[in-house]
Amino acid sequence: MWGRNDMIGLDSSILMHSDVWKASGHADNFSDPLVECKNCHMRWRNDQLETEVCPSCGGSLTDPRQFNQMLTTHLGPVQDDNSLTYLRPETAQGIFVNLNNVLTSTRRKLPFGIAQIGKAFRNEITTGNFIFRTREFEMMEIEYFVMPGEDDNWHKTWVSECINWYKDIGLNENLLRIREHDKDELSHYSKATSDIEYRFPWGWGEIQGIANRTDYDLKAHSNASGESLTYFDDLSNKHVTPYVIEPSAGIDRAVMALLSDAYTEQEIETANGKTDKRILLKFDSQLAPVKVAVLPLSRNEKLAPLAHNVHNSLRNSGAIDGLIQYDDSQSIGRRYRRQDEIGTPLCITVDFDSIEDNAVTIRDRDTMEQLRVPIAELSQEITNRI
Ligand code: GAP
Repeated sequence: MWGRNDMIGLDSSILMHSDVWKASGHADNFSDPLVECKNCHMRWRNDQLETEVCPSCGGSLTDPRQFNQMLTTHLGPVQDDNSLTYLRPETAQGIFVNLNNVLTSTRRKLPFGIAQIGKAFRNEITTGNFIFRTREFEMMEIEYFVMPGEDDNWHKTWVSECINWYKDIGLNENLLRIREHDKDELSHYSKATSDIEYRFPWGWGEIQGIANRTDYDLKAHSNASGESLTYFDDLSNKHVTPYVIEPSAGIDRAVMALLSDAYTEQEIETANGKTDKRILLKFDSQLAPVKVAVLPLSRNEKLAPLAHNVHNSLRNSGAIDGLIQYDDSQSIGRRYRRQDEIGTPLCITVDFDSIEDNAVTIRDRDTMEQLRVPIAELSQEITNRI
């Protein structure tokens, strides 16, 4: 978002008046088909079942009924129908109802986007596959406002921008695909939706949708509130309701895909000639949560001051954009493995020679190669590598 001139960031509220969700169509349409086993009473999403009987006990299922996915709460001291409201199931509506605020404060020209990251809540019938489907999750959405008629082209542009983003953060492109929604699976607001799917260990799953929401939402809010949500076009001298292209992604799903992609098991030879299994997360270094670990060879009191100095000077240099860990517990071999398992690209080992030669060893996560580097050049060497 920061790298583009056509994008504005927003942080809207999670709780909005229930009229917003009535106007958007979510109160009536945001539902999944629920079936219940007549025998064990387990509940399932009918459209995700591969059998016509209960997957748990084989019992027969009830007819599907629509189950609204929005989580409810009450605003104010009295809990009645008037105080009922919803936790947002998407961040998008906070963007639509704030369009006039953004237009008057930033004087943007079409096309432009409003981007938002934040929590969303859905009362999913079934959760699962670790963080793939949860009831509280993090979304990142862009509502990109365009002139009517230019929407189909912008839709294509955003599909390729988004798929390139997943490749840039290091996902294996052979495990990514685009799937167009059939007409009967489109959301109530969408004219066309392209999903980006990733092949997880359990099969293909959606990580992002890019929808052409047309002028559905802006018109729906205008009609419900009486407030015009339009854009004044200088060229035609007319007010137009922009069309909206919406790239909408679940951050937890992107993280799940990154974890699946990065997880690697390797057979390695140990010092005594045996084979062992090494587990590592091969994160692209820009995404690794810990960038560097400083590891004194042992807890020996002669090593600690120099190792702490190296750690502090790396942290204070500001050259490394991420966490720098210090770890002196257990054997050096175990500590290397621990860092491999959390995907730390580089380990810095401070040993007894370091006290004499003012140099340390850099160990590379993927190749396990070790290189001796003068402490004075360490920060530069690290920034060259990550
Ligand atoms: N505003 C459009 C929208 O909400 P969606 O396809 O329902 O579209 C967008 O959701 C993205 O949010 C999905 O592509 C997925 O990555 C993520 N997502 C949806 N439900 C989720 C859940 N229960 N747990 C985790 N992520 C979820």
